[in-house]
Amino acid sequence: MANLTTTYMGVKLKNPLILGACNLTSKTGIAEQLEEAGIGAIVYRSLFEEQVQLEDLQLTEELTEYENRNAEMESLFPNIEHAGPKEHLYQLEKLKKKLSIPVFASLNAIYEPTWIEYAKELESTGIDGIELNLYDVPGYFDLSGQSIEDKQLQIVEAIKQAVHIPVSVKISLFYTNPLNFIRRVDEAGADAYVLFNRFFQPDIDVEKQEFQFPWELSNPKDRMISLRFAGLLYGNLDGSICVSRGIYDANDVIRMILAGADTVQVVSTIYKNKIQVVPEILSGLNRWMDEKGYKTIDEFKGKLSRKNIKDPFVYQRAQYVELLMNSDEVFKKHPTI
Ligand SMILES: Cc1cc2nc3c(=O)[nH]c(=O)nc-3n(C[C@H](O)[C@H](O)[C@H](O)COP(=O)(O)O)c2cc1C
Repeated sequence: MANLTTTYMGVKLKNPLILGACNLTSKTGIAEQLEEAGIGAIVYRSLFEEQVQLEDLQLTEELTEYENRNAEMESLFPNIEHAGPKEHLYQLEKLKKKLSIPVFASLNAIYEPTWIEYAKELESTGIDGIELNLYDVPGYFDLSGQSIEDKQLQIVEAIKQAVHIPVSVKISLFYTNPLNFIRRVDEAGADAYVLFNRFFQPDIDVEKQEFQFPWELSNPKDRMISLRFAGLLYGNLDGSICVSRGIYDANDVIRMILAGADTVQVVSTIYKNKIQVVPEILSGLNRWMDEKGYKTIDEFKGKLSRKNIKDPFVYQRAQYVELLMNSDEVFKKHPTI
């Protein structure tokens, strides 16, 4: 049996598999079953300031607009009786006490003072770290990318000063240069980066001519963009790299570690394949490491990162170039074209 232990944002994990933020953690007994199944750590579902505001019925007209709705909120009008930060903090603290694996909180706030206040309150529950769920769905024409990044950076810096536990940053893909933004966040002292957020996009029901928000799980191919960035980032940051999006099985986990990830987060595969996928992934990882003669995760972490490969352009080659260079192969695969 290989040694699967790894360190993520300064916290020791028994293996690199983490449950990503989702509402599975609020369902009775699921987190405990995941712990029993062998998961390395858990990210509790996000505390959204916007959701809290909704529940307090202090909503401004602007926030009720659909396009400004937070991308990952669970419902537009949640149950008022059981909601609010107090209930969230209470449930989180209860879960942390029950589990022996590390538990991380996840936070998305709107205003800087609230980010800081909630981060401190989350810390007081005894959790092992906080994941800042950073995103800004474009809604204003006069806000430059630079000013959005500067504001986000300021929030990370302020939270790092306000709390004493590790802080990770879950970022969106929608930066002109995510590498530059992540490096700036790294310099600001963040402890880990989660690649990447996944937004629920609005769709339109043409029959009813209404908006709908379909609950879709990730496509397994979604992992490829995260793999690219793990490969580019490895060896360039002080913080840990955690890959999320489209990780379904042991091979996906192995791929991400080879590219440079310290850990991976899974959500969709648990919804689709149920809790049994956790021991399947862990035994697949163990088996592969035994076959390849690796005793520890560190022995193959980043082996195929940009830093450690001969062809440094693998991670920078754009799809069009690849297609042009291999167009014969593409036609062979699709003979009807
Ligand atoms: C039902 C559901 C609820 C989610 N809730 C949150 C959340 O509260 N906070 C958050 O940062 N991400 C949330 N996510 C996004 C996941 O944490 C994860 O980033 C995304 O699903 C990609 O990982 P996956 O491909 O393994 O599903 C949610 C995803 C799902 C499917």
